[in-house]
Amino acid sequence: MLSEKEQHHLEQFPGIDIGQVGGRVGMGAQHVVRCYGQEKVIKYTRVHALRDPYSRVASPIFMRDPDGLRRDFDLCHEYFGAHVVPVEIQTDRRNACYCLFQRKLDLVDLTPTMVQSTPELREELEEMVCRNKQLLAAKGVWLDIKGWDSRRTQAMAPYLSNLTLAANDEEKPRLQLFDCGIFHPPKTMALKLWHRFLRVVQESNLRRFGIRTRLA
Ligand SMILES: Nc1ncnc2c1ncn2[C@@H]1O[C@H](COP(=O)(O)OP(=O)(O)OP(=O)(O)O)[C@@H](O)[C@H]1O
Ligand SMILES: [Mg+2]
Repeated sequence: MLSEKEQHHLEQFPGIDIGQVGGRVGMGAQHVVRCYGQEKVIKYTRVHALRDPYSRVASPIFMRDPDGLRRDFDLCHEYFGAHVVPVEIQTDRRNACYCLFQRKLDLVDLTPTMVQSTPELREELEEMVCRNKQLLAAKGVWLDIKGWDSRRTQAMAPYLSNLTLAANDEEKPRLQLFDCGIFHPPKTMALKLWHRFLRVVQESNLRRFGIRTRLA
């Protein structure tokens, strides 16, 4: 089930029990996500797991080192507080690579109809978008709320694939952010253009959810 490359990579982490790594439950632009035991998922970087050109060349451009990743999580906790689904970060023996463990969620795809017909959800999303603007103004970085979902991109459906819904619980916000991917200021002109494109795509997706925003 695990490729040789994945197996070799995961063996570098003293904290991972390879026997607990199960079937693939998802994949984004950055991470391969597999079950870990009954109740958790494990996420690790595509470049270390897959051999396709995107994973080897494009994905690493946005990859964070373990310390950078911890700083991103701290920022997300500061700005998006109770929405953040906690992760445990583990590093390999050289402290060069990371993997993440997270509670396995029953994901619900958020749709424009859900947001537009539920005022509390709309308010939460508006608040997150507003906090994202504040994050950009204060720190020069922004949260990727949309993420990457090849299925829904191909279907040209609007999506916000880094969010899901928690069970209805008055104590907790309903929107749950399970991916704290943050975009940092790009260093080259090509990446600047690419980031601008991603920002515009995020904004246009949010508009289809009924949320008007301009990050910058
Ligand atoms: N805790 C979880 N429980 C169940 N499924 C999950 C969980 N976390 C992620 N997934 C699945 O894996 C997919 C990719 O996860 P995630 O968004 O964390 O990866 P990513 O590569 O960082 O994404 P991005 O494209 O935003 O960079 C999700 O869209 C979802 O389908
Ligand atoms: Mg994601």
